[in-house]
Amino acid sequence: MATTPLLEVRNISKYFGSVIALNDVSMTVNASEVMCLLGDNGAGKSTLIKILSGVHKPSQGEYLVEGKQVDFNSPRDALDHGIATVYQDLAMIPLMSIARNFFLGSEPTKGWGPFRRFDINFASQTARSEMAKMGIDIRDPSQPVGTLSGGERQSVAIARAVYFGAKVLILDEPTAALGVKQAGVVLRYVAQARARGLGVIFITHNPHHAYAVGDRFTILKRGRTFGTFTKDELSREEMVRMMSGADELDALSHELSEFARRDAAAAQIDEQLAESLEAAESLFEPESRREG
Ligand SMILES: Nc1ncnc2c1ncn2[C@@H]1O[C@H](COP(=O)(O)OP(=O)(O)OP(=O)(O)O)[C@@H](O)[C@H]1O
Ligand SMILES: [Mg+2]
Repeated sequence: MATTPLLEVRNISKYFGSVIALNDVSMTVNASEVMCLLGDNGAGKSTLIKILSGVHKPSQGEYLVEGKQVDFNSPRDALDHGIATVYQDLAMIPLMSIARNFFLGSEPTKGWGPFRRFDINFASQTARSEMAKMGIDIRDPSQPVGTLSGGERQSVAIARAVYFGAKVLILDEPTAALGVKQAGVVLRYVAQARARGLGVIFITHNPHHAYAVGDRFTILKRGRTFGTFTKDELSREEMVRMMSGADELDALSHELSEFARRDAAAAQIDEQLAESLEAAESLFEPESRREG
């Protein structure tokens, strides 16, 4: 028998007034697997992960975590079930240290009563060793987060989620704003998280990033699933074609050439018009000059 998925949605729909953001979407995520969520702008990716992370409630459908039905009222509920979401704008404080940011909202303390204070040694050691487990060497945990590169900052957020017991890690476009090298750093942590047994939901517009780390691929199109494919079922070329919207691009280039043709026709009419105006003016000009 197959193992119970870490996370599963069945026939989920989400309406915003008359907008159907998601329509009958089903998807599973297993332990030690990277599930890539792909799809065009407005396909419903963010809406789906907001449902998974407790920000929105589904209008219809079921949501199960480790086989048990759940009904989240807030992101806190999702976190308590081990579902951690790393958003692009990261909820970190740039001027505060790596160690402080690592424990933001769950600060370790020592001492009692009026002597209770942030346990900086514990925080620094833990932040450093957790980052080391993900393969990042931070020289100085007191370094402000704002001085880290974008990729390193993403890694702090991922390491933090793993440390606080996440079973499912949701990453909404973590590589979108990064250069090739930094994106590589983040992709490596995604693979690390999988190696540590987490289920990862990875959203990206980049087919190369998806193909590099993805085990399965769920494709959304205008709120519906196109299906879920394994790597064997979907070649890199097919994915690139699907994600780049090659068909839409063909249609677009046709449309653009149509515009160009119409522009050329319009330009020709303009030219003819200008010529006849000129001709007309030359008829009247001498007279008007004579008058003036
Ligand atoms: N709070 C909301 N109220 C009304 N409509 C919404 C709301 N949130 C999302 N939508 C609509 O739902 C659809 C899906 O949006 P969503 O943000 O999930 O797309 P996406 O796949 O994440 O796109 P992108 O790749 O651009 O981030 C869009 O048509 C969007 O306008
Ligand atoms: Mg989105």
